[in-house]
Amino acid sequence: MKGLILSGGRGTRLRPITYTSAKQLVPVANKPILFYALEDMVEAGITDIGIIVGETAEEVMAAVGDGSRFGATVTWIHQPDPLGLAHCVLVAREFLGQDDFVMYLGDNMLEQGLQPLLDSFAAARSSADGPSASILLSEVPDPHRFGVARLDDAGRVVELVEKPADPPSNLALVGVYLFTPAVHEAVAAIVPSERGELEITDAIGWLIDAGHTVHHELLTGWWLDTGKKDPLLESNRRVLETLEHRVEGSVDALTVVDGPVVVEPGATVVDCHLVGPVVIGAGARLAAARVGPDVAVGAGCEIVRSGVEHSVLLDGARISDVPRMVDSLVGRGTAVEGAPGGAPVASGRGVRLMVGDDCVIEL
Ligand code: TTP
Repeated sequence: MKGLILSGGRGTRLRPITYTSAKQLVPVANKPILFYALEDMVEAGITDIGIIVGETAEEVMAAVGDGSRFGATVTWIHQPDPLGLAHCVLVAREFLGQDDFVMYLGDNMLEQGLQPLLDSFAAARSSADGPSASILLSEVPDPHRFGVARLDDAGRVVELVEKPADPPSNLALVGVYLFTPAVHEAVAAIVPSERGELEITDAIGWLIDAGHTVHHELLTGWWLDTGKKDPLLESNRRVLETLEHRVEGSVDALTVVDGPVVVEPGATVVDCHLVGPVVIGAGARLAAARVGPDVAVGAGCEIVRSGVEHSVLLDGARISDVPRMVDSLVGRGTAVEGAPGGAPVASGRGVRLMVGDDCVIEL
């Protein structure tokens, strides 16, 4: 069993952050989203992993290295243009060979591990008319936003529809798929959709129409497609929920700490109120600030005389004199400056920002 992680794409829904860097490297609880997929695979025993990269290849390759620190061997696969998820399977043909594989969208996060999915696929594969693919489905309240599966009365997958106006079920396709080599014929046979992409839903539909069985599993636990700001912040919140308290940086005696916080080495916290869960990256400096809950502060950030809640600050971001900032994603090295004289507040509307790297915002 091999792994294929998709880390190319355009990332238009996470602009402006993705103008300057890869969306799969945006941190959730101070760890790039992509690393969670890699770790999930290795935990399920999949160590031969191909990663699809596009125009952000250099940055993604530098972050992951050769995969050894994850316990994996990584093969880099360049996709010249982001022509769709099924196109990723086409360009990975040589790497995938005749092996079964798990395909994992590099911007998706799952609470549940991959092992149950692999086990039930392996069990189903051992029967005479074993499946050629397995999809993971999750019940959602708004299926029109997703690829949706239609099941027949016997619970078999009979059709997949991409973002249907009139959804045939509330079962959305989660960004993890299992394939046998039968999928290679499917991705070679389909044509681009109206949006000009080779759709994985069409490839799976092709398999069904050609008489193959497509197995499905219902997801347990949460799943988020982090490709937009609010789901990204929600992923951050979910991961921080499991945070274990660890303080390696310096926290002075005036600071009040409620709930679990991580303060990385070299970070300094002076006269603050930390409302966990909060993670504070290496070398960050917090002074006279109220931070949390649900905040990830990147390495080298500064938060001074400000209040920050439910937000992700990328490395080197600086927030000063902003009484209340909520639901925000702030890019690397960006400065947000309010009027001096204010103090952090825990209620009221607050500012909500989605800013890219290296900006200066004066409020
Ligand atoms: P999407 O989020 O569906 O597409 P996108 O990254 O182009 O984003 P947007 O819609 O905001 O412009 O992609 C899911 C994952 O698959 C993501 O990690 C990017 C990756 N991907 C590729 O590697 N190659 C592709 O051709 C596409 C479409 C996506």
